Amino acid sequence: MCGIIGYVGGKQATPFLLEGLRRMEYRGYDSAGVAVANGGAVVTCRAAGKIARLESALAATPVHGTVGVGHTRWATHGPPTERNAHPHASADGTVAVVHNGIIENANALRAVLQGKGYEFRSDTDTEVMAHLVQELFEGSLEDAVINALREVEGTYGLAIVSSRDPGKIVAARKGSPLLIGIGDGEHFLASDASAILAHTRQVVYLDDGDVAVVQADGYRVLDRDAAPMSRRVEKIDWDLSAIERGGYAHFMLKEIFEQPQTVENAMRGRLIVEDGTSKLGGLNLSHEQLMAIDNIIITACGTSWHSALIGEMMIEELCRIPVEVEYASEFRYRNPIVTDRTLCIVISQSGETADTLAAMREAKRRGARTLGLVNVVGSTIAREDDGGIYLHAGPEIGVASTKAFTSQVVALALFTLKLARKRGLSVTRGIEFAKALAALPGQVREVLDRAEQMEHIAEEFKRSPNVLYLGRGVNFPVALEGALKLKEISYIHAEGYPAAEMKHGPIALIDEMMPVVFVAPHDAVFDKVVSNVQEVKARKGTVIAVTSRDEPALAGLLDYEFRIPETVDLLMPVLASIPLQLLAYYIAVKRGANVDQPRNLAKSVTVE
Ligand code: G6P
Repeated sequence: MCGIIGYVGGKQATPFLLEGLRRMEYRGYDSAGVAVANGGAVVTCRAAGKIARLESALAATPVHGTVGVGHTRWATHGPPTERNAHPHASADGTVAVVHNGIIENANALRAVLQGKGYEFRSDTDTEVMAHLVQELFEGSLEDAVINALREVEGTYGLAIVSSRDPGKIVAARKGSPLLIGIGDGEHFLASDASAILAHTRQVVYLDDGDVAVVQADGYRVLDRDAAPMSRRVEKIDWDLSAIERGGYAHFMLKEIFEQPQTVENAMRGRLIVEDGTSKLGGLNLSHEQLMAIDNIIITACGTSWHSALIGEMMIEELCRIPVEVEYASEFRYRNPIVTDRTLCIVISQSGETADTLAAMREAKRRGARTLGLVNVVGSTIAREDDGGIYLHAGPEIGVASTKAFTSQVVALALFTLKLARKRGLSVTRGIEFAKALAALPGQVREVLDRAEQMEHIAEEFKRSPNVLYLGRGVNFPVALEGALKLKEISYIHAEGYPAAEMKHGPIALIDEMMPVVFVAPHDAVFDKVVSNVQEVKARKGTVIAVTSRDEPALAGLLDYEFRIPETVDLLMPVLASIPLQLLAYYIAVKRGANVDQPRNLAKSVTVE
């Protein structure tokens, strides 16, 4: 969601702040701003729109100073205007605040502060924090912040500077990530490691409840009673090229093309082909615990929810354990049946999605063991789960998730394999599945080698107002994911449906104007899919099919065809989803859409 950056050191802060904001622009891009402590005052500069607008504003009116904070916003409270952009200043201008998250009791606090004569200048919940810190200021900035936080309910990642206590940034975290970057005679603060990677790899992740005082020559982490806390220094192990476009037109395209590597990375050191099993170091589940699992709940949002559906089918098929998949936002407010023999698998690229995190906490509270499938190392879900499988896909910057999705499916397959072997899958079948996994990176490469074909197909459909995606079995979630990709980045209305279910409604939409994408590799339900293709053709729909071999049964029925290699049925989604990523990408580009920063979306949704 929004991004936070801070700098304190011996150099001018603004260039660091702007660079950090640019690197985090994928997290939120409807407005941005910086506040720099400049001798006796804190000077703020904000702009609606992309970071480039803020850069122009700063070029026109530079702000000088060696301590500052910046923010790129994804609007929650109030429209994305300059007055609602962060930082928000206190009434007397001595305090400036940037904030991720939501202050839930902002209305009550606003009323109290207005009663004391404070005038509000924005529609945001964040502004209350600025006035509250001013109101409670005595002694140090950290004391004022700690006192203010006693009044605040909700979630936050906060970074605050004040001219009354210069030379420092005070940060606080509850439910919204923040890390300190350790430099030489300078320190950074960021919500996202990519913002500071160009300057340091040494970071300290803050925990919920932490308050940090960050200065040029050091930092301190305090608890909510100002008692000092010790936090480990960690090293970011990816390099700058991972967060740069490297010659690709968009991050999304780069990430699509990284998949041979990322699929391999997800398996590296984990797949044991000769034994037909996998080794997953971070599971934290003993043999006894794996044997004792009665049921599995998988919870996630968005694209991660689609991989969960694939995981459900894999686990039920090979492990014969009942699995339920639930949107995290629904799970957290139901009264789900969870016991101490329930395993709750939590899937999240970012590891920060608010609903997913809350669902995981709820499952834990009810006694389940939790297993996180997370990409971002050190993220909140990864830190709070009982065990985990990191995806090792590297930073995903494009807002529409691609490589994380295929890595999630692979991670689910590795887990399924391990559990299935313990729960009765024969070694022969285990080896067959493991071999198929091992072949995937090369097969993904084959799919990508044909990307150009998809570019041509995209040309034909760039003006379609609607597209229907159909698939059966394990490829039904692939259809859902294909449709989600298209709507996210091209703004074309798209729906994914189980192919046979089409007859119960969507078939009414089919005419010569309606393209229908069939995910139709040769699998156990292929013959059934053929009937569904015929139903579409009989109504003059245009059929684009992802197939895996010459199919006499489809002769004359397909308008466009894209071929993928064959693998075992359960792993088809890894290969079948890639042409659909490409289709969405090329259509969006041909429509002139901003592929990496689609309107209204955020990479990581850290609010409910
Ligand atoms: C947002 C993103 C999606 C993502 C979803 C879940 O909506 O735009 O791409 O699938 O959040 O994110 P997570 O990080 O939990 O996988």
